[in-house]
Amino acid sequence: MSTDKQFENMVAVVTGAGNGIGRACAIAYAREGANVAMFDREADALGESAELVKAEGVRALPVVGDMTKLEEVEAAFAGTRKELGPVDLLVNNIGQTARENYSEFWQAKPETLQFVINVSLMTTLMCSRQVVEDMRERKRGKIVSISSDSAMNGDIGTVDYASAKSGVLGFTRALARELGPFKINVNAICPGPTNTRAMQRIPRDAYERAKNAIPLGELCEPEDIANAAVFLSSDKSRFITGQTLMVNGGRVFY
Ligand SMILES: NC(=O)c1ccc[n+]([C@@H]2O[C@H](COP(=O)([O-])OP(=O)(O)OC[C@H]3O[C@@H](n4cnc5c(N)ncnc54)[C@H](O)[C@@H]3O)[C@@H](O)[C@H]2O)c1
Repeated sequence: MSTDKQFENMVAVVTGAGNGIGRACAIAYAREGANVAMFDREADALGESAELVKAEGVRALPVVGDMTKLEEVEAAFAGTRKELGPVDLLVNNIGQTARENYSEFWQAKPETLQFVINVSLMTTLMCSRQVVEDMRERKRGKIVSISSDSAMNGDIGTVDYASAKSGVLGFTRALARELGPFKINVNAICPGPTNTRAMQRIPRDAYERAKNAIPLGELCEPEDIANAAVFLSSDKSRFITGQTLMVNGGRVFY
C-alpha cells in the first residue's frame, strides 16, 4: 500500500538518537515512514527514543555503543544491514563541546582537544565510511551531518569544537563532490543554541544571553533541526548537495 510518506520502506540511521536533536530526528524520519536504526551510548535514553519511534508504526533498531570506537561503529552498521537492510538515509548527529572541561585555548588540555575532535568530527567520518560503499553501488542515499553555527561564529572557549564542526563542513563539501556522480546528496545543518539538555544545564544568565543574541528571540527547538534534516533527506532537496543550512534564528548569517 502506498502512502504519502516520504521515506516509506527506507532505512535511516540516526547517531546520538537517545536525546535532544537525535531523538527528534529519529521520530521525524519514522513519521515519514522510515525504519530507524538508532545508535547511542546511553541505553535508557535510547530505549525511550526507540519506543517513541515504534509508536510511529515503523521498526526501531536501538544499538547501544560508543561511536568513537571503530569496532563498535562497524558492529552497529553490520547489525543494521542484517536487520533492516542497506542504509538509505544517514544522520550524523553525535557531537559535543568540552562541557565541564571547557576552557579558553591557552589553558586547554591536549586530551580534551582530542576528545572533542573525536566525538564531534571523527564519529561523522567513521559512520559515513560505513554507508558509502552500499550507497555508491545502489546509486542512492542521503547523508546529513549536524555541525554548529559555532563553526562560523567562533564562540569563545570553543576552539576545539569550532575546529571539529568546521571539519564537518569540509567533509560535507569534499564528500558531496565524490558522491555527486552517484546521485548521493551530502549536506550539513548548523544549529544555533538549541533547547536540549546541554542548554538547559547552563546558568540562567548565560541562557538569557544566548537567547537575546538570536534575532528571532528564542532558542531553536530540536524539531526545527529535524524538519531541516527531513528536507535535506527528501526528494524535495534533490538538487542541493555540499551545502550548509543555518537553522539558528539568525544568530549568525552565512
Ligand atoms: N544543543 C545545542 O545548542 C547545539 C547547537 C549546535 C549544534 N549542536 C549539535 O547537535 C548535535 C546534538 O546535540 P544535542 O544538544 O541534541 O546533544 P545531546 O547531548 O542532548 O544528545 C547527544 C546524544 O549523543 C549521544 N552520544 C554522545 N557521544 C556519543 C558516542 N561517542 N557514542 C554514542 N552516542 C553518543 C549522547 O548519549 C546523547 O544521547 C551535536 O552534534 C551538537 O554538537 C547542538
